[in-house]
Amino acid sequence: MNAVKKRACVIGFPVRHSRSPLIHNYWIDRNKLSAAYELAEKSPEDFPDFLTNLDQHGYCGANITIPHKETAFKLMDLTDKHAERLGAVNTVVVRDGKLFGTNTDGEGFIRSLKQQAGGWSGEKKSCVILGAGGATRAIICALFDDGVDTIYLTNRTYQRAQDVADELKLNIQLVPWTERSDVLSQSDLLINTTSLGMTHFPPLEIDFSLLKHSSIVADIVYAPLETELLKTARLRGHQTIDGLGMLLHQAVRGFDLWFGITPEVTDELRELIVADLDLS
Ligand code: ATR
Repeated sequence: MNAVKKRACVIGFPVRHSRSPLIHNYWIDRNKLSAAYELAEKSPEDFPDFLTNLDQHGYCGANITIPHKETAFKLMDLTDKHAERLGAVNTVVVRDGKLFGTNTDGEGFIRSLKQQAGGWSGEKKSCVILGAGGATRAIICALFDDGVDTIYLTNRTYQRAQDVADELKLNIQLVPWTERSDVLSQSDLLINTTSLGMTHFPPLEIDFSLLKHSSIVADIVYAPLETELLKTARLRGHQTIDGLGMLLHQAVRGFDLWFGITPEVTDELRELIVADLDLS
């Protein structure tokens, strides 16, 4: 008799661009599971009904992507601290008919950092973060969990950075966008969380003169894989962390919650996604 096929999906609007099916179906194949991972494009009007009836649609869980992460949080029966402090859910599992929601974006960033920069520990470190968008809060919380001492936060729209600092109540020092190059003398880790440098977006303009030689430089943009920021950093001898690692590592806990196996982020998986990015 065939085992029951477990199904999960990624829900977004639009969702066609999502690489999550490639990632999860790779792990399903490698682990020889009777399972499937699918795309579910749902408009903001259709999303609440679809999510609250996820098991009736045949799914044991889902990833939630733009623009539904905050709405999903409000629809959960149960959430954990990762979702609660962000007010956003990116991973859902159905347990005894109830919806449990968590958020794996922050741990995705930290695991990628630790994998790509072996030996990284946040203890007593200072980080400079550019941007105050969707992923920034998750990264900030995860860095403080990892022992980071101070975060210097700068964003084009100062008020958005102020909002992040007010909400999180952590040791966040705000820096005007025009002074972003000056604060680099404080950086053990510089992270771009803006959309600057992404394909079809302008490059990020920043002067590296004051950046400590030991500072790591990270970008959460993964298309292109090596942004101008990372290229400049690499040529100056800095260790660089690309955005693909975060995308891959944020997927690990969801797979474990749905299918009961902790999957590995291997070089082969990275190459599969890189090849797909090259095609688009
Ligand atoms: P998401 O939630 O997907 O991260 P977002 O909320 O639009 O997307 O955030 C994009 C980030 O890139 C923001 O920090 C944004 O700055 P603003 O808050 O001032 O909008 C930043 N960003 C986008 N275009 C920019 C530009 N031309 N110059 C500087 N920052 C830019």
